[in-house]
Amino acid sequence: MATTTRALTSRQPGTVLLAAEGVRKFFGDDRSPVLERIDLELREGEFVALLGPSGSGKSTLLRILAGLLDPSDGRVLVHGSPLHGPNRQVAIVFQGFALFPWLTVYQNVELGLLATNVPDAERRERALRAIDLIGLDGFEEAFPKELSGGMKQRVGFARALVVQPEVLFMDEPFSALDVLTAETLRSELRDLWSDSAMPTKSVLMVTHNIDEAVSMADRILVFGANPGRIRVELKGLRPAERRDKSAARTRLVDAIYQVITNPDEDAEQLVEHYTARPPTRRRRAEPPRPRRYQTLPDVSIDDLTGFVQYLSGIGNSGTLSDLARDLQMKGEVLFRIAEATDLLGFADIQERSVFLTPLGQRFASLELDPQKALFRHSVLDHISLMREIVHRLEESPSHSLESEVVLEELETSFTSAEARRQFETLVDWGRYAELFSYDDVDGELRLDEEHYNV
Ligand SMILES: Nc1ncnc2c1ncn2[C@@H]1O[C@H](COP(=O)(O)OP(=O)(O)OP(=O)(O)O)[C@@H](O)[C@H]1O
Ligand SMILES: [Mg+2]
Repeated sequence: MATTTRALTSRQPGTVLLAAEGVRKFFGDDRSPVLERIDLELREGEFVALLGPSGSGKSTLLRILAGLLDPSDGRVLVHGSPLHGPNRQVAIVFQGFALFPWLTVYQNVELGLLATNVPDAERRERALRAIDLIGLDGFEEAFPKELSGGMKQRVGFARALVVQPEVLFMDEPFSALDVLTAETLRSELRDLWSDSAMPTKSVLMVTHNIDEAVSMADRILVFGANPGRIRVELKGLRPAERRDKSAARTRLVDAIYQVITNPDEDAEQLVEHYTARPPTRRRRAEPPRPRRYQTLPDVSIDDLTGFVQYLSGIGNSGTLSDLARDLQMKGEVLFRIAEATDLLGFADIQERSVFLTPLGQRFASLELDPQKALFRHSVLDHISLMREIVHRLEESPSHSLESEVVLEELETSFTSAEARRQFETLVDWGRYAELFSYDDVDGELRLDEEHYNV
């Protein structure tokens, strides 16, 4: 995103538009804060993403920054001056659209300006311009119930942009939309923003979607829960790196994934570890660095197979939030299990839903032995670490490996705590796949001779 070429900005790039200083929030008599000491600056030209688990206070922070809710401690500054009452520089796009069903598209959009003293003619012109900008031309007289989800969210965007907010807030704006619609709107918004076609100088977007944050934001703040706080801040990718599967993008996604799935570990350290670039060839003095292994999700075979069976039983798909509720699991635990099934090719995660693939459906329908065989193929197909270990076992004259050797190898790619977790998952999955056995007492992995050459 070319911040230096933004046409509509009159201030120097980088001016602080909005800031939170030591913001804390308690609700009612609750003694534990929902938000704990949030310090945050939003600068001109920036697109910032807030990622974090459910209940970590992201929406609460947006409401405080928008002046719709007072902080219990600390303050919000708009251009350096303390904010009292609603923040007129800000407009919000909500996940659930929040449209008035009895008003037309035009009236819903115009509503944003009724509270201001913009003259009638200008109000009309601005509403029509916002409707046009956001691709709703021709739908001015339609009512919300006549619109698809994507079109409704376009109205949500138009209603926010019509007030020409200096800062645009978006609270999971794409997560109620189907995958394709979400992608279309996302890329249109990205273009509007990078072409400076909207009057907004800064965007703050809340999302659950790591890819969405990585593909759009200049800066990513990862929130933690209990209490809600910023665990770590990451620099976003350069525009060229945002596309496709650039190495930088893969590293950033992996780092964020590690931070979110390890809520009790030091986020800074995780980021440092997972975003480290492999050394360039020129630095010959260093020993050759082994290639990095993809991260195995911290998921047991029981959870994994149980999840696939469950999904199959309810018609092969479900939203993550419904599944977490019905299976009585924490959202992050469920997400990890879903990720594991995705990694193995048994399911696809799209936005906030999981769908069993034909392979996953087949897996669910099989008896134990053929199920294990199918798992064995999948795990060797998709998990490079598993292939590597089986290969080493095959090469070893005794067809065995010391756990210490495997752990040391893993520690070249992971922190030692994570290496230990990776090892446990590896053993759990490898045993079930009947690729090898593991003896806890002598600490040896031993090739399962019956099946290793699958
Ligand atoms: N008005 C309120 N009164 C009491 N508690 C509240 C209120 N608003 C939010 N909370 C609590 O504050 C915590 C943070 O809520 P918030 O909606 O800000 O989280 P979030 O990060 O936006 O979550 P999600 O990702 O699910 O949208 C939650 O535990 C919620 O129950
Ligand atoms: Mg929220």
